[in-house]
Amino acid sequence: MEGSDSDEPVEHHMTTISRHSFGDDSEEPKFFISIIENMKEDYGLFVWPCSIVLAEYVWQQRLRFSGASVVELGAGTSLPGLVAAKVGADVTLTDASDRAEVMDNMRRVCDLNELKCNVLGLTWGVWDASIFSLRPKIILGADVLYDTTAFDDLFATVTFLLQNSPGSVFITTYHNRSGHHLIRFLMAKWGLKCVKLLDGFSFMPSDKASGLSGNIQLAEIVLDTALGH
Ligand SMILES: C[S@@+](CC[C@H](N)C(=O)[O-])C[C@H]1O[C@@H](n2cnc3c(N)ncnc32)[C@H](O)[C@@H]1O
Repeated sequence: MEGSDSDEPVEHHMTTISRHSFGDDSEEPKFFISIIENMKEDYGLFVWPCSIVLAEYVWQQRLRFSGASVVELGAGTSLPGLVAAKVGADVTLTDASDRAEVMDNMRRVCDLNELKCNVLGLTWGVWDASIFSLRPKIILGADVLYDTTAFDDLFATVTFLLQNSPGSVFITTYHNRSGHHLIRFLMAKWGLKCVKLLDGFSFMPSDKASGLSGNIQLAEIVLDTALGH
């Protein structure tokens, strides 16, 4: 179980439950979030390192999240969204509409952690009626920038949500495999700008960082109002 801060995993068929701790002091965590995930890597049913980094950021920035409306895109096992719900956000967890098993798992992890979140099918670049009523203050996306053929659909959805909810921000973590050229190009194309860029490891507590590898970046992205949106 890469990157999970787990006690003994509980095995059940091909799934496992990992426990992730949050707190300022690793000796005395404030709370745990339990996640049901598959034993083998599966896009929506596995806790990817980017979600561990984003969940930690949500915890550290918890004052921003308390009382805020939050939508997580491509949430999969949903660790960042669940942490947001735990610190008092009103959270909608979303994943591709055709992935019923991922949505079922989201409902199960909400129950397991006794958290109330909305669960919604939201495929990037598709305009179902439900997306028009979403007005998030914060949009989360962990490891949603991995398939370049889906980047435009993702950015179309992100831009729509940012426009639908003035003053909102998209916070994403991703593996920086090829530098920032493509992301910079996409932001310019969609009229967005990056207001914060962090090395994911710069804010991770050492006990969590030691289980992670790769070059994970965190970006906060907003509409570029200078462009007249
Ligand atoms: C690499 S996984 C990351 C999952 C989770 N955020 C994490 O970090 O553990 C990518 C996620 O995006 C979802 N996804 C992929 N293409 C999508 C699309 N076109 N619309 C919505 N979700 C999509 C997948 O189902 C999956 O849950």
